[in-house]
Amino acid sequence: MAQSRWTPESWRAKPIEQQPVYPDAAALAEVERQLAGYPPLVFAGEARKLKSALGKAQAGEAFLLQGGDCAESFAEHSADNIRDFFRVLLQMAVVMTYAAASPIIKVGRVAGQFAKPRSSDNETQNGVSLPAYRGDIVNDIEFNAQARVPDPRRQLEAYRQSAATLNLLRAFASGGYANLENVHRWMLGFVKDSPQSERYQEIADRITETLGFMRAIGLNPEASPELRATDFYTSHEALLLGYEQAMTRLDSTSGDYYATSGHMLWIGDRTRQLEGAHVDYCRGIKNPIGLKCGPSIQPDDLIRLIDALDPAQEPGRLSLICRFGADKVEAMLPTLIRAVKREGRKVLWVCDPMHGNTIKTATGYKTRPTERIASEIRSFFAVHRGEGTLAGGVHLEMTGKNVTECTGGARAISEEDLHDRYHTYCDPRLNAEQAVELAFLVAELLKAERLAQPARPVQAAE
Ligand code: PEP
Ligand code: CO
Repeated sequence: MAQSRWTPESWRAKPIEQQPVYPDAAALAEVERQLAGYPPLVFAGEARKLKSALGKAQAGEAFLLQGGDCAESFAEHSADNIRDFFRVLLQMAVVMTYAAASPIIKVGRVAGQFAKPRSSDNETQNGVSLPAYRGDIVNDIEFNAQARVPDPRRQLEAYRQSAATLNLLRAFASGGYANLENVHRWMLGFVKDSPQSERYQEIADRITETLGFMRAIGLNPEASPELRATDFYTSHEALLLGYEQAMTRLDSTSGDYYATSGHMLWIGDRTRQLEGAHVDYCRGIKNPIGLKCGPSIQPDDLIRLIDALDPAQEPGRLSLICRFGADKVEAMLPTLIRAVKREGRKVLWVCDPMHGNTIKTATGYKTRPTERIASEIRSFFAVHRGEGTLAGGVHLEMTGKNVTECTGGARAISEEDLHDRYHTYCDPRLNAEQAVELAFLVAELLKAERLAQPARPVQAAE
């Protein structure tokens, strides 16, 4: 691809998919002008730190845990929701850290995950057809003509909500709430309540023993800051490019442009056209970037996208978030891995076991069977082991609440149960228990991967 000069607005000259049509262009321009003057939500140094952590994951020295809502909503913005989500993500991370014996990089789909791509521009109910809901940053989910008109002022509300969410998450991450002993206590609560507690008991007991040992030698959260704080990052799909452009800032330390709406941004499976606007915007910002890879991606296209998005071959710059479906991953993933290896490119391979496993029930609910989610993760690890590459992370849609959106799990949620607590604004999410159960599965796979590798040398203390 001939690379023309990049600016934060060069995407505007490219073909673009999945954008809302705003009826009032002047109102949109005014909102974008306001946003451009607002403080950044994250700063460049943090995005660089995340990139360096992801570079370690690429080298097999860390693992990415990325998760959160499919779509955040204005209506469900509460401290309880944020706390419960954060708590579950930390519990998952502890189990995985212990099994992998390496750092788990925690990245939320949160504090900015508002814009949604849709498979159809319209939604039809009982013969009435209206513009599709495109996420709370664009229009309202309510099914009436007025609600579905894109309203630019929603971008200001999304910014305000992202700032408030991030503020609380930062407080949780550094203010003592993320204390390792707390997290372990929550995990023990999960194990005790689980109908399958005996499956989880062993690893839980081992972590208890390890923490006891650490406390005995003086390593405790009161004395060691590492045990009471954690790094936590935000991410979302870079879909609504006017908003992203308005939040793009020139970093004075490096002279580079960064998206400051979140630490990591990804390009969706429907907007990854090589010559399109979304790839153009993302190639110019220096944040770590994700690229969703679904069944329609061709190996040659993937290589061209890697060249466009990571021309400098920077460790941690590019994560390929693969979402094939449990029935396709074994057939499709090896071809991509081989193409990437043949070109000598280094990427972080991440498994999104959600988006290729969505089905519709007879009663009209979109759901995801947890067996299929687990099966795609298992196959993802197996394929990497076969190809001599590394499974570098998982990308999940999940919530800290006890919803009934995905079937299965230790409580065997059935299709008939879905109507009970089906709250999602878009795709079905794992509930808190299903998410932690999956973390135990990933932990087992990480442990097997670690045991299959040559032992890392232990550094002698000076
Ligand atoms: C999503 O992550 O919510 C999403 C829409 O994914 P994809 O682009 O992979 O379909
Ligand atoms: Co989704």
